[in-house]
Amino acid sequence: MSLPELKRRQFVQFLGASAVLAAGHRLVPNWLVTRVAAAEAQSTPLLDRLDFALAPVSHSGDLVLSPGFDYEVLLKRGDVLNPAGETYGDHNDYLAILPRDESTGWLWSNHENATMAFLLPGEKDNTLRYAETRLRNIGGSVVRLEKRGDGRWRPVLPHTENFRVDGLTSRLKLTGPAAGSQWVFGAHEAIGSVGNCGGGISPWGTFFTAEENFKDTWGDPEMKDKEPNSMQHIRRPSEHFGYVCEIDPDTRELFKHTSLGRMAHENVAFAFTRDGRLAAYTADDRVEQCLYKFVSRDRYDPAAGKANRRLLEHGRLFVADTKRGRWLALDPTLNRKLRKEGFDAARVCVHTRTAAKLVGGTPLARPEDVEVHPVTGEVYVALTSWQPGGIDKTKPDYFPDIAGALGRLREQDGDAGALRFQFDILLPGSKETGLAWPDNLAFTESNHLIVATDYAIKTKPDKKSSQEHFGNNFLVVVPTSGPRANEVLRFAVTPKGAEFCSPSLSPDRSELWVNVQHPGEDSQDVKKLSTHWPEGGDAVPKSAMVAIRRKG
Ligand code: FEO
Ligand code: CA
Ligand code: CA
Repeated sequence: MSLPELKRRQFVQFLGASAVLAAGHRLVPNWLVTRVAAAEAQSTPLLDRLDFALAPVSHSGDLVLSPGFDYEVLLKRGDVLNPAGETYGDHNDYLAILPRDESTGWLWSNHENATMAFLLPGEKDNTLRYAETRLRNIGGSVVRLEKRGDGRWRPVLPHTENFRVDGLTSRLKLTGPAAGSQWVFGAHEAIGSVGNCGGGISPWGTFFTAEENFKDTWGDPEMKDKEPNSMQHIRRPSEHFGYVCEIDPDTRELFKHTSLGRMAHENVAFAFTRDGRLAAYTADDRVEQCLYKFVSRDRYDPAAGKANRRLLEHGRLFVADTKRGRWLALDPTLNRKLRKEGFDAARVCVHTRTAAKLVGGTPLARPEDVEVHPVTGEVYVALTSWQPGGIDKTKPDYFPDIAGALGRLREQDGDAGALRFQFDILLPGSKETGLAWPDNLAFTESNHLIVATDYAIKTKPDKKSSQEHFGNNFLVVVPTSGPRANEVLRFAVTPKGAEFCSPSLSPDRSELWVNVQHPGEDSQDVKKLSTHWPEGGDAVPKSAMVAIRRKG
């Protein structure tokens, strides 16, 4: 048994799962830890047969699926989570599942933002009530899962062990080089987590959440982003936000890991280097920002369990030069330019974007989700606003109507610790390919890619826009190998105004759980709603998590 394979098996044992794993040489926690005992696995997990008829283009207020599939709402904004009255927040984005044993588990769901026109209709954006309500609805939810008598895994509401992480009150411990430094004003703790977009699962079995558009709450002096009007009653340093955060559902400990840098983190994807260290890929979702990789100094110790968290305290952060295929170290001891500009190790973790540009990181077209292929170890990157010929801000059609691409990064010798790589565009967005504005990525059991789109939805589509051509945002399956490789197979379409986030197989693999984020956002006014999903009638739309399965 190779070292990585041994690690993977030990990892699964650590999580209490007993599945014999498919061949593969990378640990992809998002994938592996959501698997429960082999006896429970469906003979053909959802989507693997690729035999579904394509979902139609839809401009409607309903959630539309390929024929033969059905869905059930699992959670929606405002659902009471626990006896203390905490509620499921707004704009559910990333979701992740951690089985605890054969019949219970933890569910995590990010709450990226809040549609205040629905939460507090008519409230001015400069009141304390507005600010507090918004921050309470952002962050994430931890929810107990149980396998019911009929074999389906479902959230348990309310439950005393369910809890919220929010933008207003949660206290998160800062780790890594920036903790306690002048660049975070000496702080060892931050209050609140905001902009929780994508995430990940660690090899030691905890949830990760990425703080993406923290500027929308706290501004950002580094990028000259002004603080919004709404936060005049609550003051917090922007430098305490923009990190990859960790949630331990068992102990309720919360961390912000500064070693992965500060930016509009989309998500985090973990892998092991060939010599057993931890690698963490992350991307900065902003135009002309970069792709990063953190590599730990020390090796992963399968016997150490959650103590492996310390791997995120010591290591090296790299930024990708995708033109020359090199990982560039953001290390002032190695780089004279960084030293000259006053960077120490702590400042690199706070003013990461400035450091990345100083060393020559390649500006990319909004790099979003980064995921590692479970078998090949290839790193897939959603380049949401990519266009042929690259970024040229002087062009009047800077953002074409149909944009985006799937990028692929192949590490030298397939080693996540490599300093060189190959980078190419695997699949561009276009009318011909059927892909547009890719945001979230995931893998099916057979390692086909699942891709969710995210383009702007208006009440009436703009001429020649992605919305006019493709309708509402949608979700596709893209085989990564075999005769149908790179075909784009449309499987589901959101209700109007929404986007799909974080498609994930259920613990028994028979369902696809996916978050439906901000339905009806194009309306923004409760008097003129574009959808009433999911409750129907005259109801105000709500972000919600659904389980999609075959009918019958
Ligand atoms: Fe929150 Fe980049 O999507
Ligand atoms: Ca996203
Ligand atoms: Ca998005």
